[in-house]
Amino acid sequence: MRITVCRRAHFNAAHRLHNPELSTAENAATFGKCNNEYYHGHNYELIVHVTGDVDPKTGYLIDMKVLRDHIKREVEDYLDHKNLNVQVEEFKTLNPTAEHIAYVIWNRLRSVLSADLELKVTLYETPRNYVEYSGK
Ligand code: NI
Repeated sequence: MRITVCRRAHFNAAHRLHNPELSTAENAATFGKCNNEYYHGHNYELIVHVTGDVDPKTGYLIDMKVLRDHIKREVEDYLDHKNLNVQVEEFKTLNPTAEHIAYVIWNRLRSVLSADLELKVTLYETPRNYVEYSGK
């Protein structure tokens, strides 16, 4: 039986959207308030979707305690209350847009999940704006 289980998570982080290859005016026009040189924060909401076959022995797709621990270590401990541009390695070279944050989260979780499980992440930067990434 093929099924998807999901878990929600949350973290707060600060960022600044900025492309050093663009002029000050182009950055301001492209990124608006998110280009504020003094940074600003978002309350990020994450939904992790894991799809695969149920283990007939346990009736589980994945032990939710195991999934919770992966999310805590790879996402919450890594990103919560951080300045993404300054403190998170990936964003020293990658503009920390919701798209890029979802991409980084997906790669970190992918590296700890068993290969027979499919992974998708949904990341809300605001209650109305969210992105989805499944590695394609
Ligand atoms: Ni922002």
